[in-house]
Amino acid sequence: MKQKIRTAIFPVAGLGTRFLPATKATPKELLPVIDTPLIQYAIDEARDAGIERLVFVSHPSKTAIERHVMDDAVLRRELKERGKGALARELAQTALCPVEDDVVFTMQEEQLGLGHAVLCARDHVLPGPVAVLLPDDLILGGQGCLSEMAEAYARSEAGHMVATMTVAPEDTRKYGILSVTGQSGALLSADGMVEKPEPEVAPSREAVVGRYVLDPSIFAALETQGTGAGGEIQLTDAIARSTGATGLCGLRFSGTRFDCGSKAGMLRAILHLASSDPEYADVLQEHFGAAPRPRSQAA
Ligand code: G1P
Repeated sequence: MKQKIRTAIFPVAGLGTRFLPATKATPKELLPVIDTPLIQYAIDEARDAGIERLVFVSHPSKTAIERHVMDDAVLRRELKERGKGALARELAQTALCPVEDDVVFTMQEEQLGLGHAVLCARDHVLPGPVAVLLPDDLILGGQGCLSEMAEAYARSEAGHMVATMTVAPEDTRKYGILSVTGQSGALLSADGMVEKPEPEVAPSREAVVGRYVLDPSIFAALETQGTGAGGEIQLTDAIARSTGATGLCGLRFSGTRFDCGSKAGMLRAILHLASSDPEYADVLQEHFGAAPRPRSQAA
């Protein structure tokens, strides 16, 4: 029987250059999707999946992440004094408590790649498989993606599991691509992965999104992992190297993934959430619902 997934690693040290100037002073993980920062979605997803320890691999310049993630008793007290008790309770529910929750912040001083970020968490993980969540990849709808993976992982024989979605051939160069060997329902068996291959050499069109469940042997593989695509230490390469020993599978998750590391993806996520919230019905109607005005009157 498989061990439980007890640790989630959140690599959050990246500079967020695609969102400059917004990310000059604000970590990209704190950019809000309407009113909830990206990191909060990932934390909620991990807690829903029964994760016990949350390890944030951050950067010294991104202390605001810790301020958001951890409970702020002073702010809550102030809110209560101003008669905003409900808001204070809401904040307490989503924040992590230094006493009740098992939270670790560790630093990745140098940006050496996703594989290196995961390796930075090695000394802080609990025994058993670990989850890795990339907060840029926001997955909405239905069951949380990590819960879905945890269920499938318990039933599967593979030591590593990645969440996948099918992409257009020209998009393989943006993702880790799974080398698929078979399929059973939503579960794909695989014998390797390639980081950002050109379409001509991509082993499939099954792209890995930012959710992984990894056998702990990944840390030994990462220790000896050289640089790969983009001159970085790639998690994809270490997974591929340890696949022979541990097995690898992909799960076609059921939610919808938004690439919130890109401006278009962030906008899509905001529109998606707004369109299912009656509070914003008027705003959307105002902008998209009215018939376009004839050109002559449009000035
Ligand atoms: C990372 C991974 C890549 C994965 C992607 C998902 O790439 O290296 O394998 O497909 O996340 O979002 P990045 O987007 O950080 O370049």
